Amino acid sequence: MTDKTSNQMWGGRFAAGPDAIMEAINASISFDRRLAAQDIAGSRAHAAMLAATGVISDSDSEAIREGLLTVLSEIEAGKFEYSVALEDIHMNVEARLKEIIGEPAGRLHTARSRNDQVATDFKLWVRDQLDASEAGLLALIKALLGQAEAGADWVMPGFTHLQVAQPVTWGHHMMAYVEMFGRDLSRVRDARVRMNESVLGTAALAGTSFPIDRDMTATALGFDRPCANSLDGVSDRDFALDFLNCASISAMHLSRMAEELVIWSSAQFRFVALSDRFSTGSSIMPQKKNPDAAELIRAKVGRIFGANTGLMMVMKGLPLTYSKDMQEDKEQVFDAADSWMLALAAMTGMVQDMTANRDVLAVAAATGFSTATDLADWLVRVLGLPFREAHHVTGALVGLAESKGCDLPDLSLEDMQSAHSDITSDVFGVLGVENSVNSRVSYGGTAPEQVRFQIKRWKARL
Ligand code: ARG
Repeated sequence: MTDKTSNQMWGGRFAAGPDAIMEAINASISFDRRLAAQDIAGSRAHAAMLAATGVISDSDSEAIREGLLTVLSEIEAGKFEYSVALEDIHMNVEARLKEIIGEPAGRLHTARSRNDQVATDFKLWVRDQLDASEAGLLALIKALLGQAEAGADWVMPGFTHLQVAQPVTWGHHMMAYVEMFGRDLSRVRDARVRMNESVLGTAALAGTSFPIDRDMTATALGFDRPCANSLDGVSDRDFALDFLNCASISAMHLSRMAEELVIWSSAQFRFVALSDRFSTGSSIMPQKKNPDAAELIRAKVGRIFGANTGLMMVMKGLPLTYSKDMQEDKEQVFDAADSWMLALAAMTGMVQDMTANRDVLAVAAATGFSTATDLADWLVRVLGLPFREAHHVTGALVGLAESKGCDLPDLSLEDMQSAHSDITSDVFGVLGVENSVNSRVSYGGTAPEQVRFQIKRWKARL
């Protein structure tokens, strides 16, 4: 006879209930309750299939599916009482179902195990998150396209080593991020296709002797097909790792952009003004307007990478098939998903609201001898110098301008000719930043016409 305190789901061979510490380490209900809707969807699909294949009666299946809807409405209304003794969401739902419909509830778990059940629930949840992140990425890309369109021809300094390198356009810089988040989008879509196989019906690990129809449950749950190997099915968490990889790379992109916004909004740069809606003040310094949202986005990457590494460590070295280690897959994914979604939304808001200081950008674009490459290119194109020699001549002129405390366009023709006697006054035509960016018409280059071409391509693509 089963002890009253032992587990009602598997208490048959147990004489006593668990120690309190055992219960504490074993229970996952505190976090896997987030899978409730997916658990119920999976169970409803399973129950319908069990009736269609004659494994259980239509009336039992009907009672189960209706009862599960009642459980769902209780959960959604916040009226559900979760029990730690019932360990996880699967057993909590089933126990409540039994209270509501009685005996037929016990037939739901036919031809199924918590192993395929939890994998199914979690995969459905991750798939929903991928869809949400796709929407989040699209919103951010649209905000960036808006900025790029407004400032396709605004000049600003382009940097390497955070030193002024060559003038570029604001639109070009915004479109660089469109490319980055566009790759995130394609990674999300790849991952979604790859993970879209149903685990339900792989049962504990070996499949089942009942005449189940795995195609039916796969279709009902929106999967492309059932997975082909039951051992792999119950022990695979690649879908969660794919998700975390998508999130990690995207978070890295977000943090790079956040870092630029922190720098650009500083008093030393003043490239952009962030809106009040996405800034905070200081409790002591009245003049302060801090880019906290950007800083927090920059930091979120830490926990997202952490989740990725954490789950890799949980999974590495696990023998096939299911081990309880795998219960440790969820919290990190939940946290990474929340962090990623919030970071995407915050970045979208900041990008939509921010104002580029066009004049400051233009002045900065002309500093740091940013058109030196244009001068060298002119020496090659017009005087026929080898690029290496042109580089050398230009270097001498930069040195001269630096010693005179002026910029390249401020040098006299005599100054120019002191470095190479064939230089003519035509050279001054290429030293302006507008000329510089307008000339970079190579595919993918910074010229406004190229930027507008890429904006159009992206708009057509979305
Ligand atoms: N709560 C468990 C988890 O999250 C469900 C699966 C339990 N399976 C088992 N064989 N004990 O992984």
